[in-house]
Amino acid sequence: MREASLLKTMDRLAGNARLMIVSDLDHTMVDHHDPENLSLLRFNALWESNYRNNSLLVFSTGRSPTLYKELRKEKPMLTPDITIMSVGTEITYGNSMIPDEGWVEFLNKKWDRNIVSEETSKFPELTLQSETEQRPHKVSFYVQKDKAQEIMKALSTSLEKRGLDVKIIYSGGMDLDILPQGAGKGQALAYLLTKFKAAGKLPHNTLVCGDSGNDAELFSIPDVHGVMVSNAQEELLQWHAANAKNNPKIIHATERCAAGIIQAIGHFKLGPSTSPRDVIDLSDTKMENFDPAYEVVKFYLFYERWRRAEVEHSERYLANLKSVCCPSGTFVHPSGIERLLRDCVNSLKTCYGTNKGNNFGFGWIRFCLHRIVVLDTSDTSSFVPKSAAIGRLRTMQPLSSQITNNENNSSLLHDLIISIIGEVRQCCLTTVLLSSKDVSVAQGLTWVHVHQTWLDGAGSRCFDSHSLAKVWNSMELSLQELMLSMNVCVSVLA
Ligand code: GLC
Ligand code: MG
Repeated sequence: MREASLLKTMDRLAGNARLMIVSDLDHTMVDHHDPENLSLLRFNALWESNYRNNSLLVFSTGRSPTLYKELRKEKPMLTPDITIMSVGTEITYGNSMIPDEGWVEFLNKKWDRNIVSEETSKFPELTLQSETEQRPHKVSFYVQKDKAQEIMKALSTSLEKRGLDVKIIYSGGMDLDILPQGAGKGQALAYLLTKFKAAGKLPHNTLVCGDSGNDAELFSIPDVHGVMVSNAQEELLQWHAANAKNNPKIIHATERCAAGIIQAIGHFKLGPSTSPRDVIDLSDTKMENFDPAYEVVKFYLFYERWRRAEVEHSERYLANLKSVCCPSGTFVHPSGIERLLRDCVNSLKTCYGTNKGNNFGFGWIRFCLHRIVVLDTSDTSSFVPKSAAIGRLRTMQPLSSQITNNENNSSLLHDLIISIIGEVRQCCLTTVLLSSKDVSVAQGLTWVHVHQTWLDGAGSRCFDSHSLAKVWNSMELSLQELMLSMNVCVSVLA
């Protein structure tokens, strides 16, 4: 039972993850000095278009669940597969953040937070952090940089005398955390890797990313690649110099935050490392790996650039777009109004540059996809009532492997239906039905149907099954075609 959430997380992938990224958030994934969040959005687009369907994203933060959720509201962040919070003392799985109870049990050994409170109260140099940051297996303070070393020593002696086995970590030149000895970001990662191994699902590569003291442990886990972002704190660089200087698998990036993570993916050749946001002419993109999510990312990026007048005002783009719209394809607005997709493309003419700048403090600036996930068969079959063929579907392999398998067996493609869902900060959930008759998929996919529904901010939903069933029936779609249904959620960052 305990393993169920981990396995569910893994089930999304056909095999072992191609890459598992384990990243710290503050000053690593998230740059608090970049109000436009450009490198974060670059990373997000890279991840959603190339990795979401075959890899695992793990956020590992010092923040408690409360502060983590606050950060998600402030910054355009992806939804990770696994969230490790409170400096490796809390592990949760999936979008619904199901806690790993086995980890909690493990951390209870030789731990008594009352004794920690008692002993620490004897140190006037320690200032307690806010109530939200005090967790079952984490007691946190602020302490001045010049006093930190001395206090850590004294504390560890006094806690040891009381029979506790603790770990004391100093981060960011100000935060002091006291945790059970078995806890910490590195231990939490080691625990996950052990579980993956037991399930035969060890990721092919793991990349850890960090900037401060509480990330140091991540870099000592055997066999992982590591990137210290360019803006890493002194305490992490010192730890590295003393403990891991000769490890070629760890680099100190020359780029800040998420840009440093992208740099490391390229440096270690862990997979594609060009974000679609860095591709100027997306219509020329040659896909390294076929992935329908790339189509969607490409479309949203084009639309964003069009609205911001960052692409040329050229008919060519609209003609390209029209050529990938099914002639009878429709778009349903959240209000219920339905139009032909091709008419929608025509009306793009009038909205060129309407979101240039943000002069009025309002309006769309950028799109952010939060999550694109392949749904399992039982979910997808619910919106295709009459299709026995779809009902036969059992495995949900990533599309790339289906296409490869298909080279010798064209019947495999016939039954393929994939639904991808997303979640959103605001705005709406978009269900996209894509199709391709062409096994080589050289020209990309045809957009058959786009249906939007409003979302109430935080909520995430599956697709509108009724409307999809209607479309499915009315279009008499041939199962000779590759059908992809995706629910994509996008937020508009103002
Ligand atoms: C985060 C947490 C804080 C902790 C720090 C360093 O800022 O909110 O409690 O001390 O990370 O681990
Ligand atoms: Mg950090």
